[in-house]
Amino acid sequence: MKLLVINGPNLNFLGIREKGIYGSESYEGLVERLQEKAKQDGIELECFQNNGEGAIIDRIQKAYFDKTDGIIINPGAYAHYSIAIRDALASIEVPKIEVHISNVYKREEFRHKSVITPVCTGEILGLGLNGYFLAMDAMKELCK
Ligand code: DQA
Repeated sequence: MKLLVINGPNLNFLGIREKGIYGSESYEGLVERLQEKAKQDGIELECFQNNGEGAIIDRIQKAYFDKTDGIIINPGAYAHYSIAIRDALASIEVPKIEVHISNVYKREEFRHKSVITPVCTGEILGLGLNGYFLAMDAMKELCK
C-alpha cells in the first residue's frame, strides 16, 4: 500500500508555533515516527509539506499518476477556504482522510467550517499528532 501524507501551511513549524495548541514535537520528529510506523506496517509512505496552495495541488495531481492508494491531508488554514485544494482532492478517486491536530470546533468560528471535509472519506481532529497515526490505521482498512 502506497500512502501520501500532505501537510499544508505552517505545519513545518510544529514544535515552534503555538505549542499549547500543537504540542512541542517538531515536524521532522513527526515524519520520523510516521516513517517508522510505515516500515513496521509494510506501507510505502511519502510525507509532503508545503506552504503554498499550488504546490499542494500539484502534489495531489501527481498522486493520480504515481498510483497512490490513499491520501491523508492536514490542509492547515487552507481547510477553511481553499476550493482549489478541494477540487484537486475531488478529482482523485482514492480514500482521503482529513486530519486536524487541534479540535477546530473549540476554537475561533472561522475554523469551524472546512471546505475539504465533504470530499474526504472521513476526518480525525482534536487528537493531537496521534490523529495522523490513527489515519494510517484507518487507511489499512479503507485500502483493502
Ligand atoms: C490545523 C487547524 C487550522 O485551523 C490551522 O490553520 C492550522 C492547523 C490543525 O491541525 O489543527 O494550521 O489544521
